[in-house]
Amino acid sequence: MAAVVVVALRRMAWPWPALVWFAMLLLLPAALAETAAFIVHMDKSAMPRAFSSPLKWYESTLAAASPDADMFYVYDNAMHGFAARLRTEELEGLRRSRGFVSCYRDDAKVVRRDTTHTPEFLGVSGAGGLWDAADYGEDVIVGVVDTGVWPESASFRDDGLPPVPARWKGFCESGTAFDAAKVCNRKLIGARKFNKGLIANLNVTIAVNSPRDTDGHGTHTSSTAAGSPVPGASFFGYAPGTARGMAPRARVAMYKALWDEGGYASDVLAAMDQAIADGVDVLSLSLGLNRVPLYKDPIAIGAFAAMQRGVFVSTSAGNDGPDLGFLHNGTPWTLTVASGTVDREFSGVVTLGDGTTVIGESLYPGSPTALAASGLVFLDACDNSTMLAKNRDKVVLCECDASDSLGSAIFALQKAKVRAGLFLSNDSFKVIYEHFTFPGVILSPQDGPLLLQYIRSSRVPRAAIKFEVTILGTKPAPMVASYSSRGPSRSCPTVLKPDVLAPGSLILASWAENVSVATVGSRSLYNRFNIISGTSMACPHAAGVAALLRAVHPEWSPAAVRSAMMTTASAMDNTGASIKDMGRRNHPATPLAMGSGHIDPSRAVDPGLVYDAGQEDYVKLMCAMNYTAQQIRTVAQSLPVAVDCAGASLDLNYPSFIAFFDPNGGAGERTFTRTVTNVGDAPASYSAKVIGLNGLTVTVTPDRLVFGCKNEKQKYTLVIRGQMKNRTDEVRQGSLTWVDDAGKYRVRSPIVATTASSDQF
Ligand SMILES: *[C@@H]1O[C@H](CO)[C@@H](O)[C@H](O)[C@H]1NC(C)=O
Ligand SMILES: *[C@@H]1O[C@H](CO)[C@@H](O)[C@H](O)[C@H]1NC(C)=O
Ligand SMILES: *[C@@H]1O[C@H](CO)[C@@H](O)[C@H](O)[C@H]1NC(C)=O
Ligand SMILES: *[C@@H]1O[C@H](CO)[C@@H](O)[C@H](O)[C@H]1NC(C)=O
Ligand SMILES: *[C@@H]1O[C@H](CO)[C@@H](O)[C@H](O)[C@H]1NC(C)=O
Repeated sequence: MAAVVVVALRRMAWPWPALVWFAMLLLLPAALAETAAFIVHMDKSAMPRAFSSPLKWYESTLAAASPDADMFYVYDNAMHGFAARLRTEELEGLRRSRGFVSCYRDDAKVVRRDTTHTPEFLGVSGAGGLWDAADYGEDVIVGVVDTGVWPESASFRDDGLPPVPARWKGFCESGTAFDAAKVCNRKLIGARKFNKGLIANLNVTIAVNSPRDTDGHGTHTSSTAAGSPVPGASFFGYAPGTARGMAPRARVAMYKALWDEGGYASDVLAAMDQAIADGVDVLSLSLGLNRVPLYKDPIAIGAFAAMQRGVFVSTSAGNDGPDLGFLHNGTPWTLTVASGTVDREFSGVVTLGDGTTVIGESLYPGSPTALAASGLVFLDACDNSTMLAKNRDKVVLCECDASDSLGSAIFALQKAKVRAGLFLSNDSFKVIYEHFTFPGVILSPQDGPLLLQYIRSSRVPRAAIKFEVTILGTKPAPMVASYSSRGPSRSCPTVLKPDVLAPGSLILASWAENVSVATVGSRSLYNRFNIISGTSMACPHAAGVAALLRAVHPEWSPAAVRSAMMTTASAMDNTGASIKDMGRRNHPATPLAMGSGHIDPSRAVDPGLVYDAGQEDYVKLMCAMNYTAQQIRTVAQSLPVAVDCAGASLDLNYPSFIAFFDPNGGAGERTFTRTVTNVGDAPASYSAKVIGLNGLTVTVTPDRLVFGCKNEKQKYTLVIRGQMKNRTDEVRQGSLTWVDDAGKYRVRSPIVATTASSDQF
């Protein structure tokens, strides 16, 4: 429950300096005396000829520096090097070794899961759910690095799928090399576990006999965790809009890298290393490290190697919203996904004694599904335990207007064991509180006057509640979830992050059948599905869309795929208004919360123009960030040539813009140069359309782009001039849209001008 923990931490005044001191007193002597685990980057090209393999060379190098060291991972794809436990004082010797590039601690628990519920979740089982078998019959392999998988899940049903692609180099059955002729599950083509302390422990679990069932992908008509049918809803939160049925064709390769002991960078790197070697096309990582520079971020490092091989990497923005600047995975060569709501609510319907009904939000899954009419009482903030104890047999109405009173009221009612609770609250984190373990409903404060009036005017106020009511087509949707982490990216502030918004709140997810979805009283409830929230849920949606795009456009680079998703994303909700931000009292969301907007898969297939970028561009960006050659080589190994910082530039060819302005009101001018590639119809002509950024001047030169043929490139510059108010954290937004004369394409890029801090780690 990462998001809940974060809320609690932020709202409590921690005596943190004392805490830090205490921790240091405890840890310092131990750290000096003991061994620690490190991830060590090596320059493979420096390996002396005498060694037959990098492993032999690494072993010899490590043994020379640290005779008792214990090497537990060797990496050859996500990076070159190894992970080992050694005495910290022996590091110096290692640093002086031939071919040493860099090293950093493999701390426990630095990798954060971006799920608000963490059991054996297989959110990405649906990564290919947007696929149309007839049109997109290609086999795209989606690698998922997460907590693991329930191979028996019906979501891995594989009938109708052709054999596993022959290019798959991974395992398919425990302990044996992949053999396409063997009977194996063609949906879940591989699953690996990465254990702490074991060298390449590659236990493979694989579902050979998955039951017949279509739930969890494409059209979903079965029960939700709340038990009611959801016709037309899909795993992805999309009701299929296209006429033909969705048939997921993507293969899932699952890499378990998160364990109860915590998230270790070395495990994540091992998973990415193996996934690249196995031959995945798309990687989905719903996890991240907070407050690390790119050259100490295993996901950024592994993703660079993946990108070099054409693998698309989707990552989660994190669940540390809504304040600015807490986003993780703000990596220029990955897709960073924010989380939004979908047009579906799980509701509780309250019927008052006079027949009036009030609809609220509740994920209460237990029986009774309907609570018969009972006495109703209003107990203000529900903070008086004596009063609660006196009203145990009643439905208790609470008013929660302070920021953290919803959580405490729910806790108080649970403890008092009242019959049911109704909570008037607009808490922006209420989605997290909806998982009631007793009959409870969150109601809008707007319904307060009506309820209070009824209670006051009625001699015997009563209320009945019906749970497990699913309401589809709710408006407005999507909205940016409060918990979704916001930009700017501290690891690379000059690239606007996050990139896109995808469904992440209250998502139906396949669930391990032996892990409870909820506890009601002392009873645990089990289901093949659960309803969960987090950027963890949003990230695999985007990975699924990327898989679709890869199938249609195998020639596109990862940057082109990302560009297509970004420039076709929608900044509008289902009412036609700007997407709102639940973390900003439902004001319009800025690109620092939602990036380019909500992903729109059907438009992304045919974007018109793309903004491309490759490894040289990212190296030039790191040069301009003043990274040392060693830091650059830690991220970007296996460059065809030595690191070349000529033409260093912070101005990456990216489909969005962020300009930092002086918070003291000083005038500024920011210039961006972009190159677009025509992947749409040809010939074609586009005109620039700029909106927003009130008070600033935006110039686009030239403001018309003419393409004679397909794949032709055209360059333009965008200049933002002016000054912003004397205020920090001001965010002004606008957009540049290239509109083609034929009216077919609209290639939109968000623009942010902000006085928020641009400090990088
Ligand atoms: C709780 O309610 C009881 C009964 O109305 C009252 O006597 C008591 O003072 C209240 N306690 C607090 C802490 O307000
Ligand atoms: C669920 O079942 C799997 C496979 O049988 C097992 O490995 C796992 O430990 C079980 N989990 C729980 C919480 O019982
Ligand atoms: C919630 O409602 C209270 C008053 O009922 C108001 O003061 C507060 O600003 C509202 N918060 C949000 C996030 O809308
Ligand atoms: C890099 O260093 C130069 C020279 O010190 C400085 O002007 C520039 O602002 C630095 N760039 C970044 C991104 O820190
Ligand atoms: C901006 O505000 C700061 C303090 O709030 C003040 O010292 C400074 O002079 C102001 N600058 C301008 C340009 O108004």
